[in-house]
Amino acid sequence: MLWYFVAALLLMIVLRKVQLRLVLSLAKHGSLSGHARLARLIARRLPHYEFDERRFFSADDAPPEVAARRRAGFMRLAALCLERYPQGAALTREVEEALSDLQFTARYRVPFQFSGMVRRHLRGGAFLQSSAQSTLTDVDGNRFFDLSGSYGVNLFGYDFYKECIERGSQLVRELGPVLGQYHPVIAYNVRRLREISGLEEVSLHMSGTEAVMQAVRLARYHSGRRYLVRFCGAYHGWWGDVQPGVGNPVAAAGTFTLKDMDPASLRVLRMRRDIACVLVNPLQAMHPNSSAPADSGLLNRRPPAAVERAAYAEWLRQLRAVCSERNIVLIFDEVFVGFRLAAGGAQEYFGVRADMVTYGKTLGGGLPIGVVCGRRELMKRYREERPADICFARGTFNSHPYVMGAMHEFLRRLESEPIRSMYRDLDALWEQRARRLNERLRAEQLPLQISHLSSIWTVNYLQPSRYHWMFQYYLRAEGLALSWVGTARLIFSLNYTDADFAAVSERILSAARAMQRDGWWWPGAALTERAIRRRVLRELLQAWWATSSIGSRSSPRSRYSGARQ
Ligand SMILES: Cc1ncc(COP(=O)(O)O)c(C=O)c1O
Repeated sequence: MLWYFVAALLLMIVLRKVQLRLVLSLAKHGSLSGHARLARLIARRLPHYEFDERRFFSADDAPPEVAARRRAGFMRLAALCLERYPQGAALTREVEEALSDLQFTARYRVPFQFSGMVRRHLRGGAFLQSSAQSTLTDVDGNRFFDLSGSYGVNLFGYDFYKECIERGSQLVRELGPVLGQYHPVIAYNVRRLREISGLEEVSLHMSGTEAVMQAVRLARYHSGRRYLVRFCGAYHGWWGDVQPGVGNPVAAAGTFTLKDMDPASLRVLRMRRDIACVLVNPLQAMHPNSSAPADSGLLNRRPPAAVERAAYAEWLRQLRAVCSERNIVLIFDEVFVGFRLAAGGAQEYFGVRADMVTYGKTLGGGLPIGVVCGRRELMKRYREERPADICFARGTFNSHPYVMGAMHEFLRRLESEPIRSMYRDLDALWEQRARRLNERLRAEQLPLQISHLSSIWTVNYLQPSRYHWMFQYYLRAEGLALSWVGTARLIFSLNYTDADFAAVSERILSAARAMQRDGWWWPGAALTERAIRRRVLRELLQAWWATSSIGSRSSPRSRYSGARQ
C-alpha cells in the first residue's frame, strides 16, 4: 500500500516537472535571442572571414558597373576622412593597440566580413574636443549634430550637463571626494527620487549595471527564490545573469528568458514557485522580442510591427497583476528610458507601477550613476531576527559627493519651467518629426524608414541589401555623429529645436541620396532577403570548412576572395 502511495507521489512529481518544463519551453521565443545556450554555441563556432578588395564591392554579385560606382563612393569617403580627420586618425593610431575598448567598438561597427577594409580606410572620429547643446566638435575642428546621445545620457543638451557638473561641484567643493559619509545634498536627492518613483527607499550605485544587479539580488534575498525572468531581446547592462546569451562566456543558470508580450510567459509566472522577479526594459516596446539593433549584424532591418503604447501598457498591467498574484517582484529597468519618456519615467508613461525601479544614465547630471528605488520591505538588506543573514551590497564610489552634487542640480532643474516645458506634447512632437521625415524619404523613393519611441530612433531599411551599414559613413560625412551601433540608434536630446531638426533631416536625406547614387542599394532582381541569407550561410560554411580542416593548418583566418571554393 505504502509503495503504491510512494510510486503515485513520485509519478505526480515527475509529471509536474515535465509540465513545468513544457510550459517553460512554450514560453521561449523561437529566435536565437530566446535560446541563450544555442546562441552561444553557434557564436563560438562562427568562423571569421573577410572580403578582399574585389569582393568587398560585389558581395551581392552586383555587376561591375555598380561595383565601380561603389568603389568610387567608398574612396571618396576615404579621401574625406584623410582630409577631415588627420588628428583624430593619428590619435586613433596612437592608442588603438593598447585601448581594448576602442578596438572592440571599431571592430564591431560593421559586419565582420567588411570590417577590416572599413577600418583601414574610413578612419577617425573617436576623439572630440568640445560639445555645445546638441553638437559635438572633434579634435580636427569638424562640427557634428550629435545623434549618439552619449548612450542616452544627453537628454537636455550638453550645456545642461556641464552646468549640472559645475554647479554640483560648487555645492560639494568644501567636502571634496570624501567617501563613506554623505554630503547634505543627498537628502534632497533621496526625497526627489522617492517622489518621482513613488517608492519608499533608495540605494545609490555607480552604474546602471550595478543597480540592476542589486535590484535582482534583493528580490532573490527576500523571496528566497532563485530565478530571474527577463524578456527576449531586452538589454539590462552587462552583468552575467541579465546577459545569458552571446557576450557572456558562461551560462546564466538562474535566468529564464521568455517571450515578450505573450500569454505563454504569463503562464510560466503563474505556474512556477521559484521565480523571484521579472525584469522589464520598457524600451522593448519599440521592438518586443528583438535584441537592441546594431549595424554590425545588419543584413536587413525591417520596420518592426508597430506596438501601440496602449498595447504595451496593457501587457505591463497583465504582468503587474500576475506578479502581485504570485508574489513576484516586478522590476522596471528605466536606466535608459527613465526621464526620457516622461518626467516620471516609464511608470508614468505607461501608467503602471513597479515594485522596484532602476535608474541611471541622465540622472547623474552627466556623471556616472545607478539608482534602485523600491518598496521598503524589498530594499532592506538584513533581517532583524537573523543578524547574519544579510544581502550585501557596496561600492567604493557609491554616493560620491560630486555625483550627488550633479544629481542634485539635475533633479532641481527637472522642476524648472524650461525643462518642464520640454515634456509638454513630447510624444506628439517626435511623432510629427518622424512622420515628416518618413514622408520625405518616401516621396524621394529612398529605401529608409524611421521607427521610434519618442526621441529614440532606429533607421530601418525597406529593401534587401548587404550594404545598409555603409549608411552610417554617409551620415558622418554629412556631419551627423552616431554611436558605434551606427544607424540602429539615433538618440536625440529634447532640446533639439525645429531648426536643428530640419538641418538633421536635410542631412539624412542628402546622405541617403548619395548612398543611393553610389549604388549600395542596387536592387538586383534576384536580391531577396532570403537569397542574401543563403549566400551568407554558404560563405560561413566555406570559411568554416577552410578553418576547421586542412585550411586551418596554413592560416587561422579565411580571406574570402569570392572564388567558389
Ligand atoms: C536598460 C538598461 N539597463 C542597464 C544598463 C546598464 O547601464 P550602465 O551602462 O550604466 O552600466 C543600460 C545601459 O545601456 C540600459 O540601457
